[in-house]
Amino acid sequence: MSTYGSFPGSRPRRLRTTPAMRRMVAEHRLHPAELILPAFVREGVSEPVPVSSMPGVVQHTRDTLRKAAAEAVEAGIGGIMLFGVPEHKDATGSAGTDPDGILQVAIRDVKAEVGDDLIVMSDLCLDEFTDHGHCGVLDSEGRVDNDATLERYAEMARVQADAGVHVVGPSGMMDGQVGVVRAALDAAGHQDVSILAYTVKYSSAFYGPFREAVASSLRGDRKTYQQDPANAREALRELALDLAEGADMVMVKPALPYLDVLHRVAESVDVPVAAYQISGEYAMVEAAAANGWIDRDAAILETLTGVKRAGANMILTYWATEVARRLR
Ligand code: PBG
Repeated sequence: MSTYGSFPGSRPRRLRTTPAMRRMVAEHRLHPAELILPAFVREGVSEPVPVSSMPGVVQHTRDTLRKAAAEAVEAGIGGIMLFGVPEHKDATGSAGTDPDGILQVAIRDVKAEVGDDLIVMSDLCLDEFTDHGHCGVLDSEGRVDNDATLERYAEMARVQADAGVHVVGPSGMMDGQVGVVRAALDAAGHQDVSILAYTVKYSSAFYGPFREAVASSLRGDRKTYQQDPANAREALRELALDLAEGADMVMVKPALPYLDVLHRVAESVDVPVAAYQISGEYAMVEAAAANGWIDRDAAILETLTGVKRAGANMILTYWATEVARRLR
């Protein structure tokens, strides 16, 4: 007993005394199967191209993508999310609906490599394929045309599913996108292809490095379609709509600046919830670590644990394979 009365009356530190004790009482633990690796594949390159703002991340060649997928299986992660970087971009993003476009080719390559041992997912959005860099097609006044874009998404869903993808990830934040994609998949006989909806997607400064990774030519911003960081209740409206339209799984993105929103979403649904730890979140940790300012490996695990604690069942992270190996 201390000389200051009866304090401490209770000693929570008992449960923190040794690594074994801390391990046993941990409320959350990361598992490789819940990690999903986002990967970029670039058309027409014979060597992988480093993404300078994301040290350790590359634009893959078809070959190195296959290798990365094989490593992902080996590491035991849950899935891979594919992004295509086409040689030629145009106003409507035609490469996104070309059955021989780079994303479709990559889906077939990865499926040939991993079969059903890894869940193969594809980003379903036009920004990687348009020369103006927007997530949809533009009207005569240069605004993103919601309904004309939906027609393009329906076609993208079809070609991606024809290529063999397990899960499509509509990410353009057009109204009605999940319903249209579901209908297009069903009409083409792809009832078993599921939808991971980018349900809550904020207009974020942290997408910066991604724009380099997909060689985006976007000028301006996506504020007329992605959500305003000031709004949380609005996320629940997006959520209700996506569920009603047939989303099998929902996603919140970015992760770290929106843990409150992730938590609210996770508390209010009965479908799996994913969080996307995006390019800028990755870059921040890598940059600080490269300067010797933080302990890289510990910081990575801490951010992922935080995202999990907030309620994510699955986490998209550029560290997926590395972390999975570390967890084993
Ligand atoms: C849209 C899409 C983006 C990301 C994933 N899908 C970019 C955007 O919405 O601006 C960003 C992912 C990241 O930053 O890591 N195709």
